[in-house]
Amino acid sequence: MTTDTTGTVARDGESRPGGPADSPFIRACRRRPVPHTPVWFMRQAGRSLPEYREIRASVPMLESCRRPELVTEITLQPVRRHGVDAAILFSDIVVPVAAAGIDLDIVPGTGPVVAEPIRTAADVERIRPITRDDVSYVDEAVRQLVVELGDTPLIGFAGAPFTLASYLVEGGPSRTHAKTKALMYGDPELWHALCGRLAEVTLAFLRVQIEAGVSAVQLFDSWAGALSEADYRRFVLPHSTAVLSGLATAGVPRIHFGVGTGELLGAMGEAGADVVGVDWRTPLDVATGRIGADKAVQGNLDPCVLLAPWPVVEAEVRRILEQGRAAPGHVFNLGHGVLPETDPEVLTRVVALVHELSSRRADQG
Ligand code: CP3
Repeated sequence: MTTDTTGTVARDGESRPGGPADSPFIRACRRRPVPHTPVWFMRQAGRSLPEYREIRASVPMLESCRRPELVTEITLQPVRRHGVDAAILFSDIVVPVAAAGIDLDIVPGTGPVVAEPIRTAADVERIRPITRDDVSYVDEAVRQLVVELGDTPLIGFAGAPFTLASYLVEGGPSRTHAKTKALMYGDPELWHALCGRLAEVTLAFLRVQIEAGVSAVQLFDSWAGALSEADYRRFVLPHSTAVLSGLATAGVPRIHFGVGTGELLGAMGEAGADVVGVDWRTPLDVATGRIGADKAVQGNLDPCVLLAPWPVVEAEVRRILEQGRAAPGHVFNLGHGVLPETDPEVLTRVVALVHELSSRRADQG
């Protein structure tokens, strides 16, 4: 018997029916029947929200990630406003790397900038293993959030080794990832040492979040689509597998996401994901054919569509829900993060529309 997870608000215990583990989001990740297709948005915490901008006006990005009360408030903002089916922890993929001893900053309008890029074996040694004490602010924020969120699941996340390596080797964002690839092709031994070290940091960071109570984790390999499948399998897959398979018995669904990864979807599933994130370039039914029927999919509205007139948005949401029916589980999302210029009211309308179009009465199965 399934419990109606939409109406009950019980916050007093962990293992009750209707808690986060029984939410539509977690059920979809596990390919179980759902009362409606769950929806959340990558980069929903921040970006387009005026209430976020107000908080951030006087606090630099990395500092806001290290203050548990701010992390908690920013993480809750999109849940309150949009009624999304999951919260994502407010943090950044470079937070654990900074905790591991690398001097970096997140520069407004640019992204992460690394003071001394990693280019040699001695540089790799500067990336220390991390423990819970190094990221105690994340531990604390997650524990607070789990209480505040009640039945709504919290998604923890980390950057995958390739995407982190790209920032560390380039020193900042890069369109071509040229220095990263030069190191990868030119010195495979050093490359594997770097990614092995980053996989350890990432795994430790995700374990801290899981122990503190997140209900699912997402591994962001945002820039993996820059690689051919052969190179992905040789240079990246072993390291992302080390992270995801290291969490196989942790009891939470694992989502694996990248952009421009149409050719890599099968391999990204093989890395040990329960859910594979798909960008807008690959229709979800085609993606399911590549990923296989033993995994759920997440996606895949083009974030730019949200800037178009509502009838266009509505038609695209309908198409994606229809194509998502080919998958054994579908979590509605964007194909990449919310753009800062997005009207938050459109996001709220999309959540309501996804819920309305996908609602199933329990007797319909
Ligand atoms: O999803 C969420 O809402 C949770 C928070 C989150 C942030 N970054 C907050 C953030 C998450 C999940 C990330 C992940 C992240 N960070 C990724 C992977 C996801 C993706 O979009 O591909 C990457 C590549 C980064 C690195 C990074 N951090 C970039 C490229 C930027 C953009 C710089 C800019 O000005 O647009 C950031 C900064 C950042 N991370 C912001 C937020 C809310 C904006 C900072 C600000 O408001 O000043």
